[in-house]
Amino acid sequence: MNLTLKIWRQKGANDKGKIVDYPMTNVSPDMSFLEMLDVLNQDLIDKNEEPIAFDHDCREGICGMCSMYINGEAHGPDRGVTTCQLHMRMFKDGDTITIEPFRAKAFPVIKDLVVDRSSFERIQQAGGFISVNTSGNTQDANAIPISKHAADEAMDAAACIGCGACVATCKNSSAMLFVGAKVSQYALLPQGQVEAADRVLNMVAQMDAEGFGNCTNTGACEIECPKGISLENIARMNREYLSASLKG
Ligand code: SF4
Ligand code: FES
Repeated sequence: MNLTLKIWRQKGANDKGKIVDYPMTNVSPDMSFLEMLDVLNQDLIDKNEEPIAFDHDCREGICGMCSMYINGEAHGPDRGVTTCQLHMRMFKDGDTITIEPFRAKAFPVIKDLVVDRSSFERIQQAGGFISVNTSGNTQDANAIPISKHAADEAMDAAACIGCGACVATCKNSSAMLFVGAKVSQYALLPQGQVEAADRVLNMVAQMDAEGFGNCTNTGACEIECPKGISLENIARMNREYLSASLKG
């Protein structure tokens, strides 16, 4: 396939940045999107030009690093995949593909397509720890009964990889799908109960302090989330928050 890439180039946080065109020839439909960018970068390096900075690590949909906005969609046109799992067969010969960083006040651009998502780390740190008894023998797993339904829902919430697609997609740059997932994965389990009230209050306070917007129930985050995190997690977080506020 022959393609035209329009890629956001920005030297650093204080640079204005601009879109630069890169023609690509002989792109295999079997390449992943990141492999296609690797080929472009090798070509730029061979020409003594600055390669395009982009984040990646696992390249198998686990780490949440490969955050890109592709043709106006977080992680591109496929559903339920991260950018590293996106394949060039999703595009057609002759296509123009626009590639931008995730945009949100709380995700400042570091360089080109790389953004600083440490705000997510600070929200998780604000959530703190869980209290478990680690003295003596390991507790038998069956000693803590957990319903199948609760276990499944907690596991679904824990599937969030912190990629930030929900924030980039939301017109309010809301992080509530992410925070809802992180609150839920503990709120649904008995092990998470001891600090549950402090956890939700502190995580929401940190989310607001980082400059994320509020949820207005458009649901775009759920559609673009590569891990299928449900809006139910936002509703659960709101319930947890209300109940924790009343206790306080
Ligand atoms: S909720 Fe989904 S889109 Fe948001 S950070 Fe988690 S995995 Fe990414
Ligand atoms: S590189 Fe890890 S999820 Fe894409």
